[in-house]
Amino acid sequence: MLSNRKIIVTGAASGIGKEIVRYCLSEGASVIACDVNKQALHELESLHEKQSLTDAPFKLTTYQLDISNYSRVSGFFAYLTQEHSDLDGLVNNAGIYLAKSILDYQEDEIVRVIDVNVKGAVYFSQMFGKMLIGKEQNMRKGTIVNISSVSGLEGSSDAIYGLTKAALLGLTKSCAMNFAPYIRVNAVAPTMVNTSMMEVIPEWRKKEYLSHQLIDSPVLPEDVAETVVFLLADKSKHYTGATFDLNNGCYLR
Ligand SMILES: NC(=O)c1ccc[n+]([C@@H]2O[C@H](COP(=O)([O-])OP(=O)(O)OC[C@H]3O[C@@H](n4cnc5c(N)ncnc54)[C@H](O)[C@@H]3O)[C@@H](O)[C@H]2O)c1
Repeated sequence: MLSNRKIIVTGAASGIGKEIVRYCLSEGASVIACDVNKQALHELESLHEKQSLTDAPFKLTTYQLDISNYSRVSGFFAYLTQEHSDLDGLVNNAGIYLAKSILDYQEDEIVRVIDVNVKGAVYFSQMFGKMLIGKEQNMRKGTIVNISSVSGLEGSSDAIYGLTKAALLGLTKSCAMNFAPYIRVNAVAPTMVNTSMMEVIPEWRKKEYLSHQLIDSPVLPEDVAETVVFLLADKSKHYTGATFDLNNGCYLR
């Protein structure tokens, strides 16, 4: 579904991002995997090097950066312009979750969660948009997928996290307008997914989430990756500005 496509995935070294990388590669795409965690990026490379001996060709490049650092992101896009100017996909996946009530947040924590979860996606969207459609004589088609959350639609017991995930839905709709007709922009809003991020969700909140789900089968990282691949591919060519609720029917009334 993604042959000859070149896709950036942020937060690519673990959890949902790692699975998105695996699915994109197996669908024939080349992937530029970004993460702040250098060690985990090395592990990702080794994993796919091993697989490439038997599976699809190895077309993974990794890049270590903090997505909330504007000058580092600018440097990354300067590198892409030189080395990967045929880029056509972006998955804004990196995010952090502190699992705290707003009453317990310190100022630096509020800034950090907003910086990573919102500003990171804003910087990547802006620079990706400029790269594909910044020059009138050389406009190209592409797709962006933003990983929001059920928390962005329904609220979160962590207000700062919830507001950042709601912000991504606004970013999705506005970028869909700003980048049309060249870049389609959609969001995926998963319910709880079993990754290291889930380890910090309080037990009572996990039970509450599960009790709201109509389908009794947990959403896995690969389920999110399947939806992301669909949104990156031409099969989803009529979707832009949309949010895909991947939540087992959570909160339906
Ligand atoms: N796990 C869930 O229940 C769930 C549910 C809904 C949405 N999400 C969203 O899915 C996305 C992925 O979450 P996950 O569950 O895989 O979490 P995870 O913690 O397993 O992975 C997040 C990745 O992002 C990277 N990262 C963190 N800060 C970064 C930064 N500043 N720059 C670059 N990389 C950074 C981490 O190193 C890590 O590899 C997040 O945006 C999260 O909000 C997760």
